[in-house]
Amino acid sequence: MLQRALTGVKPTGDPHLGNWLGAIAPALELARDYDTFYFIADYHALTSTPAGEELRRHVRSIAATYLAFGLDPKKSVFYRQSDVPEIFELSWILSCFTPKGFMNRAHAYKDAVARNLDAGKDPDDGVNMGVFGYPVLMAADILMFNADVVPVGADQKQHVEFARDIAERFNLHYGASKASATENAPLFHLPEARISSAVKTVVGLDGRKMSKSYDNTLPLFLDEKPLLKRVNQIVTNSQSPEEPKDPNQSHVFQLHQLLLNPGEEGELRKRYLAGGMGWGAAKKLFFETLNERLRGPRGEYNRLLADSAYLDSVLHEGKLRARSLAAPFLETIRKTIGIQ
Ligand code: TRP
Repeated sequence: MLQRALTGVKPTGDPHLGNWLGAIAPALELARDYDTFYFIADYHALTSTPAGEELRRHVRSIAATYLAFGLDPKKSVFYRQSDVPEIFELSWILSCFTPKGFMNRAHAYKDAVARNLDAGKDPDDGVNMGVFGYPVLMAADILMFNADVVPVGADQKQHVEFARDIAERFNLHYGASKASATENAPLFHLPEARISSAVKTVVGLDGRKMSKSYDNTLPLFLDEKPLLKRVNQIVTNSQSPEEPKDPNQSHVFQLHQLLLNPGEEGELRKRYLAGGMGWGAAKKLFFETLNERLRGPRGEYNRLLADSAYLDSVLHEGKLRARSLAAPFLETIRKTIGIQ
């Protein structure tokens, strides 16, 4: 039996190059070797209380993005978290096996408290219960489908560890019980985080980490002209075209090489070192490579967003497949805990 890999994406902001290379591409690659589950974590996005219209738009945008980059909804199970009510029932069940102290130690919550204290505010200022309980819902996402492997960014590692600890506590509590529907076999698999190390941090236009909050991103689906405009905003030094340039010091090079194979990268390195190529020309080269790679997905993304009936049908199909697994498993869990 194939191992199962599962990952969720929070629908916030428009996807950028860093999301693609750091998260989307490595997650989609797993479909080759694993039984894969991908979902849109729309109820996780609610913790930052976006406007309704904005959340709706981002959900569709994320769905179209994954499909445009090759997610095959026949092969993988692809669904919206909110379409699977079993997850939320499991979330409550798991919360009763989650020590409150775990949540006090969650990085995201601790950071919010630290920021509040620095600003002289109440420690819990602006922290809703959704933010506080976020890791429990995430554990429910993972355990509902008994995922073995969870591909995530390094910032989510602790959350996967919580899911594992919660699963162990649950298994231990019911392990010896005769009432267990599975007769002592542990109910939950213990999930492991898979941090993709292949991709280094993607630099943004200003040389800091590419991030929506720094406004230094290359959004994936801009049309050619605005994309070129963004590429031209990459910060460079004042070297003249004739001067040899150090590729390792150049944000343009750092971005460009992410799209090249080792041979091509070596060639480009030589061109930088040889001199005679100005920053305008270097940016143009990068733009051409980038645009070539994005042209197909961009067309597909626009087509998908325009065809809402198709997008709806894909998500509907995913919902049916996800629930056909979640519903019977939740029945077993309910029996185990004595509800029913
Ligand atoms: N918290 C994850 C993030 O912000 C998204 C997410 C929600 C997730 N549920 C998940 C990731 C389950 C992996 C598994 O990126």
